[in-house]
Amino acid sequence: TETGSLSIVVLGASGDLAKKKTFPALFNLYRQGFLHPDEVCILGYARTKISDDELRNRIRGYLPHGKGASNDQAEDVSKFLQLIKYVSGSYDSEEGFHSLDKEISAHELSKHTAEGSSRRLFYFALPPSVYPSVCKMIKNCCMNKSDCGGWTRIVVEKPFGKDLESAEQLSTQIGELFDEPQIYRIDHYLGKELVQNLLVLRFANRFFLPLWNRDNIDNVQIVFREDFGTDGRGGYFDQYGIIRDIIQNHLLQVLCLVAMEKPVSLKPEHIRDEKVKVLQSVIPLKDEEVVLGQYDGYTEDPTVPDNSNTPTFATMVLRIHNERWEGVPFILKAGKALNSRKAEIRVQFKDVPGQKQGRNEFVIRLQPSEAMYMKLTVKQPGLEMSTIQSELDLSYGQRYQGFPIPEAYERLILDTIRGDQQHFVRRDELKAAWEIFTPLLHRIDRGEVKSVSYKPGSRGPVEADQLLERAGYVQTHGY
Ligand code: BG6
Repeated sequence: TETGSLSIVVLGASGDLAKKKTFPALFNLYRQGFLHPDEVCILGYARTKISDDELRNRIRGYLPHGKGASNDQAEDVSKFLQLIKYVSGSYDSEEGFHSLDKEISAHELSKHTAEGSSRRLFYFALPPSVYPSVCKMIKNCCMNKSDCGGWTRIVVEKPFGKDLESAEQLSTQIGELFDEPQIYRIDHYLGKELVQNLLVLRFANRFFLPLWNRDNIDNVQIVFREDFGTDGRGGYFDQYGIIRDIIQNHLLQVLCLVAMEKPVSLKPEHIRDEKVKVLQSVIPLKDEEVVLGQYDGYTEDPTVPDNSNTPTFATMVLRIHNERWEGVPFILKAGKALNSRKAEIRVQFKDVPGQKQGRNEFVIRLQPSEAMYMKLTVKQPGLEMSTIQSELDLSYGQRYQGFPIPEAYERLILDTIRGDQQHFVRRDELKAAWEIFTPLLHRIDRGEVKSVSYKPGSRGPVEADQLLERAGYVQTHGY
């Protein structure tokens, strides 16, 4: 492990993402000893003029504290908050970034990094419109200048553009200032425990190796459901819609891990090479294999135009044109304001000839209550000879008591410090992902593909269930 000073700069420090995700993740890392007070300083940066203490107080509310928190925790919170300082400035003037650099340099000096490297991590909890100017400011004012090594890295959040062209433009702008190994494009789904388990599961188990192909698998579903609407985020959401918000990134990343070939090694570049190949093998989407929905009441949000066609729900079939997957539908489904909150992968196997009981299914539940279970046919216990469908169930809460599951952001931020890019999206991956959806997105934006309405709290439009059936999915029993 590297030593020397570590400066973590959270840009957009007073925003929602920083408060709800970034700072709590940093706190958890601190609490587990991954951020050493001897090395680390955390600098918040934003436009609002507030003091260090004001920022600390804003953050405090999002950390475990007060009722239910132990004394130890309260002490940890205070110590953690002491590591945080605040600098205010705009996102497009050098003045603020010079002050930021001064703070970082002072921290580096105080840690006597003449003998150690200086590490500078910039976390963008910002709207993407300011990415290019912020990158320029960092490049001009805040790069690591130590002679003893170290690095400067940036962590950026989606949305990376709105379509192929804008994403490529953004990539080029950032790429002119930073090299790919310095750029960490976060997709927090890649930090989820069961997503990280996918490659192990697929490539370390004889159960799966010979079955994971078109000869045995009938269809694959990757599903995201939320039981709340766009609450308070309507203005943002309406610009993007569910495909850009969830499917083009989170679900597609999961699809890559489910469908990719075995990488040459577990090196990040080898894994990402295989993911790109899957994306490049996806054939153009067909209109009759896409259902879009918008929940009733969505446009009542004052920040959403009355005539918005933006989908809050989508089900679509992706088809991968290669030897392993030819003919197997990959059904991606995502919706807001549905009847439950759940994300899961459902691999449905082909029928066993003559067997009426129901198909084998292998389900990986990403959240809530992480679990993997296999639906299979067994003899019903008892004197009669009849069969039922049952489950082999690995529920993490039961099986791994005492192994707390880390938050996605916690794990990913640690990766950025360690310099491991495996769970981050590479530029060519991003491009290939946009290539798949851009034609459809443009047609939706022009109003040529319409969203049908559905009731909030429902399963979504019936048309989606019909599409699933057409794609060959058969409802099984149990859960
Ligand atoms: C974000 C989306 O990327 O993921 C949100 O912008 C969504 O709309 C969220 O609610 C879901 O994340 P999780 O981890 O709760 O499934």
